Amino acid sequence: MTLLVQNLHMSDRVIPLVDLRNTARAVQLPTTPVVPNGLLADALGRPLRDLRISVTDRCNFRCSYCMPKEVFDKDHVYLPHASLLSFEEITRLAKIFLAHGVRKIRLTGGEPLLRKNIEVLIGQLARLRTVDGQAPDITLTTNGSLLARKARALKDAGLQRVTVSLDGLDDSVFRSMNDVDFPVQQVLQGIEAARTAGLGPIKVNMVVKRSTNAREILPMARHFRGSGAVLRFIEYMDVGSTNGWRMDEVLPSAEVVRLIQSEMPLVPLEATASGETAQRWGYADANGRFDPALGEIGVISSVTQAFCRDCNRARLSTEGKLYLCLFASQGHDLRGLLRSGADDADLASALAGIWGARSDRYSELRNSLAGAPAPRVEMSYIGG
Ligand code: GTP
Ligand code: 5AD
Ligand code: SF4
Ligand code: SF4
Repeated sequence: MTLLVQNLHMSDRVIPLVDLRNTARAVQLPTTPVVPNGLLADALGRPLRDLRISVTDRCNFRCSYCMPKEVFDKDHVYLPHASLLSFEEITRLAKIFLAHGVRKIRLTGGEPLLRKNIEVLIGQLARLRTVDGQAPDITLTTNGSLLARKARALKDAGLQRVTVSLDGLDDSVFRSMNDVDFPVQQVLQGIEAARTAGLGPIKVNMVVKRSTNAREILPMARHFRGSGAVLRFIEYMDVGSTNGWRMDEVLPSAEVVRLIQSEMPLVPLEATASGETAQRWGYADANGRFDPALGEIGVISSVTQAFCRDCNRARLSTEGKLYLCLFASQGHDLRGLLRSGADDADLASALAGIWGARSDRYSELRNSLAGAPAPRVEMSYIGG
């Protein structure tokens, strides 16, 4: 196993970029073939429902919590084109995941709209079916920078909805969060274009860092209340190894809810599906009852209230490695198996073996893990 370690200086810290991209496990075929029946469960009894596919490791933003520009600078080496899974390879794998019970497919990056002809892939995925014969829920996480231009073509190709990352409304706060001086107005136009194209329900994800954008919580809540978009506040997480994460930069979701409550009353809402990342809160009317016209918010509390218990998410990296947890150090090399000439039955059996052995639950264990943390793969490589 070769680890490429570069030492990079960032203010007064040294942040090592540990390149884990070459460290995948070779995939073994189980001795007995497994025919998929949609009921696959992992070692903790968790089903496989959500497949998140990273289609590029590139991004035109440099959010400090994800791709800090001191690390992802002009010398950073992105994956070569030949390493990427082709659209045909992605679609072939997605079909096998669906046969094992996946119902939702999320395209991520990096920034997925930077992948050339992404709508061709969406068209291919949209023709697949779940084990119940339904069309899969196909969505995409984007920073919104190219959305105004692409929303219509994405919808026409079969995309159902989008989630837009937006960390503040104040232009200078937003520019400092994306760290490439990108204006907030263009992302807001992207959200409008998505709405007009019918890519809803739109979700807006805001990562909160206490010292940088916590003051944007109330303006964001006011802006999106009653807009039809669901705003979600995400606790800043210790994903990857480069973002210099510190606990004192995490604003617990309970504080976010308290702050919004102080101005706009909220009532707790039931989860819509098991394994959801977000806890839902609805805006209340004058009688203290949920008012659907005002809408809802979500809080995603991976740090203060882990939600591993029902985690049904698998992540496929840009070059076809399967990660069983956002905080994993290693993936399973599905591309190797695919390109070695394996047929669909082999791929289905291999996936059953990998998922069946899964016991990851990093967020639940975070506080009890002793010693230095194992190096973790970057989120820009496996997607959010
Ligand atoms: P919806 O179906 O749209 O509700 O999607 P989702 O909430 O499953 O996905 P989304 O990508 O919008 O998740 C929002 C954020 O939650 C991500 O950007 C991550 O910050 C975090 N997140 C998502 N999945 C996981 C996970 O499995 N573990 C942890 N710790 N965080 C996650
Ligand atoms: N903490 C929480 N969420 C993160 N994301 C990326 N890095 C982090 C982090 N350190 C998520 C955000 C962003 C999406 C692309 O990935 O939700 O919107
Ligand atoms: Fe790009 Fe999204 Fe990462 Fe920001 S969070 S650097 S927009 S991939
Ligand atoms: Fe799933 Fe890992 Fe996130 Fe827990 S930390 S919810 S196991 S991805």
